[in-house]
Amino acid sequence: MKIAVIGADGQLGSDIVAACRADGYEVVPLTLAQLDITDETRARQVIAGSAASVIVNTAAMHHVEKCEADPARAFAVNAQGVRHVALAASAAGARLVHISTDYVFDGGQAAPYLESDCPLPLNVYGNSKLAGELFVRTLAPRHWVLRVSGLFGSHPCLEKAGGLNFVDLMLKLSREREEVRVVDDEVLTPTSTREVARQLSHMLRRGADDGLYHATAEGHCSWYEFAREIFRLSGSPIRLNKAAPGEFPMKVPRPKYSVLENASLKRQGLNVMRPWPEALAEYLREKHGIH
Ligand SMILES: NC(=O)c1ccc[n+]([C@@H]2O[C@H](COP(=O)([O-])OP(=O)(O)OC[C@H]3O[C@@H](n4cnc5c(N)ncnc54)[C@H](OP(=O)(O)O)[C@@H]3O)[C@@H](O)[C@H]2O)c1
Repeated sequence: MKIAVIGADGQLGSDIVAACRADGYEVVPLTLAQLDITDETRARQVIAGSAASVIVNTAAMHHVEKCEADPARAFAVNAQGVRHVALAASAAGARLVHISTDYVFDGGQAAPYLESDCPLPLNVYGNSKLAGELFVRTLAPRHWVLRVSGLFGSHPCLEKAGGLNFVDLMLKLSREREEVRVVDDEVLTPTSTREVARQLSHMLRRGADDGLYHATAEGHCSWYEFAREIFRLSGSPIRLNKAAPGEFPMKVPRPKYSVLENASLKRQGLNVMRPWPEALAEYLREKHGIH
């Protein structure tokens, strides 16, 4: 099987490329230089030319503040660009695996969101990603839409400040400061990109129904609790405190609770996601040599 990966040098794309190669698939890695999904003609040419039977789209504009400041660009990439990919995958008769986000929800719920729950995004990023999902679901008959959340992976995420994910940012602060303050009123599921790649490998091997999937690690935590586990596992003596309400005012509204239940994966006996602390321990071991 031949698999084309769009956004191949991104945080998640890099791990998907590695996992697919390890499984023995032929991989066509597509970086932004090779395919800008906002170019419809190029998307059709490159996807047809790849002769891949599976197209994985990880490309996105996902910096929440930048999306809010430039909605036209956010929709050009996350909605219209995804439409181009969906049309091209469909014309080529390929399966489209599209990566989406927990930010399609408003966070008003107190229990994990199911795939059947109604999305209601709070910001431009979430709206543009939801529009992208809908294009996939209506234009690409053979599709898996995977909603992921709170990603951390070995490859730098260039959209984030200094390319640092939350784990690496906390480790850096623990070397530079004596105290760090982190918000405790946003609850999510931190998810390792390696785990998402493993989950996708499993679906490719075993097969799965077309449709929408929540694909996050098991369990949940606040950003404060996430930081506490990072410092515990790394043996950092830094003082960690909860940020006071309003201490870090949000410029753009975000869901306060965006925990997803992998209900569709579980229903089909396909969920291989581990609890987030296990995946975090593996990440710290493999990337930072922390045992
Ligand atoms: N990061 C998170 O915490 C998080 C949480 C939930 C969902 N997600 C979703 O997960 C996916 C992967 O995120 P990530 O963390 O791996 O992001 P990332 O590291 O920023 O990777 C995104 C990749 O897409 C490429 N790209 C950007 N615009 C493009 C365009 N117009 N055409 C083609 N490629 C383009 C980027 O290239 P350049 O680097 O060259 O710009 C990069 O290689 C995204 O769909 C995102 O919405 C992420």
